[in-house]
Amino acid sequence: MNYGAHSGPSPSPSPSPSLSAGPSPSLSAGPSPSLSAGPSPSLSPRPAASGFEPPPYPYDRLAGLRMAAGRHPGGMVDLSIGTPCDPPPGVAIAAMERSRTARGYPASAGSDEYRGAAAGWLERRFGIAIPPGNVAACVGTKELVAGTPWLLRLRSPERDTVLYPAVAYPTYALGAILAGCRPVGVPEAPDGGMDLSAISDEDAARALVLWVNSPSNPTGALSDLEAAGSWGRANGVPVLSDECYVEFTWERWPPETILQHGVEGVLAVHSLSKRSNMAGLRAGFYAGDPELVRYLSEVRKHAGLMVPGPVQAAGAAALGDDEHVAEQRRRYRDRLDRLAGLLRFAGLDARVPAGGFYLWIAAPKWAADRAVAEGRSGGWVLAEALAEAAGMLGSPGELYGDAGAGFVRLAMVQPEHRMDLLESRLVGLGEGSLAAPLPATRQAG
Ligand SMILES: Cc1ncc(COP(=O)(O)O)c(C=O)c1O
Repeated sequence: MNYGAHSGPSPSPSPSPSLSAGPSPSLSAGPSPSLSAGPSPSLSPRPAASGFEPPPYPYDRLAGLRMAAGRHPGGMVDLSIGTPCDPPPGVAIAAMERSRTARGYPASAGSDEYRGAAAGWLERRFGIAIPPGNVAACVGTKELVAGTPWLLRLRSPERDTVLYPAVAYPTYALGAILAGCRPVGVPEAPDGGMDLSAISDEDAARALVLWVNSPSNPTGALSDLEAAGSWGRANGVPVLSDECYVEFTWERWPPETILQHGVEGVLAVHSLSKRSNMAGLRAGFYAGDPELVRYLSEVRKHAGLMVPGPVQAAGAAALGDDEHVAEQRRRYRDRLDRLAGLLRFAGLDARVPAGGFYLWIAAPKWAADRAVAEGRSGGWVLAEALAEAAGMLGSPGELYGDAGAGFVRLAMVQPEHRMDLLESRLVGLGEGSLAAPLPATRQAG
């Protein structure tokens, strides 16, 4: 089967009426600069750019909430971004220090050691044998998520659509926009996964890729990965399964990878950022369909995408060690249980998710009503109340898609002494305090 490589019907250029296609800004190049010497720039105004303008970075929108939360004695407790606060494993740091790889260029697809360690972890964690040649490195997975539509489009220029969960990590949609493609969100199924039956035939025919994310950021839901892989194979669309939270699966153990249901037409995407607290080092990998791995790793080599050698050494050591992951699981699970309990005490509907390290909290009725009256989202109103009442910074759910607008996401990325501070604030507010509007809620953003 040919996964989108110059196959399938030629789509019409008209925008699809289906699902929730986001804004698709024009990416046409702006005016070409003249090579002849023109008037001095200081004398003539710069021509207005008519090409792509990046949208605001989601977390830059939180400045007002940040200020409100920061007014608390003891400061803000920042649960907005999923950036780990716990240390990377000692074995990884030691391996980086020992590595003698800094002077030469690293292999773009990853060293034999790195690819072998990734394959070894896939075997230990999921019981699947993937040859190391069908594994390749990426510079953290965000760049892979953002860049893959562009690279897939180079070989399938007649396809122009990126499918992804409608409530999701924002980079799936941004990757589409950066490639000049249409981002099309697939609605949630009642069980929290994606409703694949909602994808129209036209969108399927135009799709370059279907992204799956299980456990999901932000909802924590687990997806039916077997169904996603089958859908991709039936429609000739590569399925990329972002599994970066898989070690923090709570509802089922051992956890699942899409590769367990066959590698044809699919890639599993994994990151060292969450598993091993190495977000600052930038290391991840993708594995699966040999032809997809070959194509992506070849074109990424031309583009100069390389994980630094010492980071590959650290990554290989981290992938070879499971003990630190067990400890990290305990930390996240303790924080999830603790904060969910405190928020329930405060009157919110907080539940430990099926996976991941985020609480995904529905706005209570008073916040939803206020949102309607003020033309804002319920999640934003709740985030404002959490910032003002408890100095807690969360992310309003609208950052993850319109369908998430009634929620707030809280990341369990603060150490225990900051969780203690939150506990004293929430207990101080009193039982049920957030089930009704707070007396003097100011608008924070
Ligand atoms: C769902 C998901 N995918 C990918 C990433 C990117 O992680 P990294 O680039 O650190 O590997 C994140 C980061 O938060 C994420 O939540």
